[in-house]
Amino acid sequence: MIVSVRRFRPRIKFRRPFHVVMLGLDKSGKTAILYRSKWKDWKERIVPTPVFNVETVRPSKDLRFKIWDVSGKEHIRPLWKAYVRQADAIIFVVDSANEERIDEAKEELFNLVSSAQINGAPILIFANKQDLPNASAPVEVTTKLSLHNLSSRHLWYLQPTSAVLGDGIVEGLRVLSDMIAQWKADIKNLKSGRRKRKLAASRSNSVNNIL
Ligand code: GTP
Repeated sequence: MIVSVRRFRPRIKFRRPFHVVMLGLDKSGKTAILYRSKWKDWKERIVPTPVFNVETVRPSKDLRFKIWDVSGKEHIRPLWKAYVRQADAIIFVVDSANEERIDEAKEELFNLVSSAQINGAPILIFANKQDLPNASAPVEVTTKLSLHNLSSRHLWYLQPTSAVLGDGIVEGLRVLSDMIAQWKADIKNLKSGRRKRKLAASRSNSVNNIL
């Protein structure tokens, strides 16, 4: 299994479900993953997503996400950046059995990551369609997508999945929840460090003024 940058499980309780945006090329399996994480016994009946689907999912007692599944069609992709603004995390779905489109998927992923709107949010990559005989192994998908070149600003994790069998989805969402908690704790620490430094600086200025 591919490692994320760090693993850490801060004990913070969050009141609202995490806001997650799920992206990836058309037909990679986003909608199948969304419905499979909402209903364990879901039986397939999918039409291509016109623009987006949104569902609040609770794959286990302690996990709650509001997931936006945005169409991967070429004419919708320029809108992805607008959807990721304010997101707690991104899920990027890749069809592991479609060798021909892996470069296209990589290009879209790196375009997305380079946009300011994503703002360091963690990224979960689902290497989907692992049930198909020609699917690339997770380690190959990692190499083909050059995931190790992702900016160190992002926590990321690659999880092999099969939306058809329902394999790997809950495991991936659990890691995602840990990464979001870690990211939020890092931001909080950074802000409080900055506040303390500012306070210390303003105190020393006022002492200097008195002297
Ligand atoms: P867009 O709505 O066009 O962006 O596509 P999407 O990424 O939402 O893909 P969707 O979930 O509609 O799945 C596309 C096709 O792939 C469907 O026929 C699914 O049944 C199939 N599919 C999705 N996940 C899997 C999987 O894990 N294994 C297999 N064998 N087929 C899958």
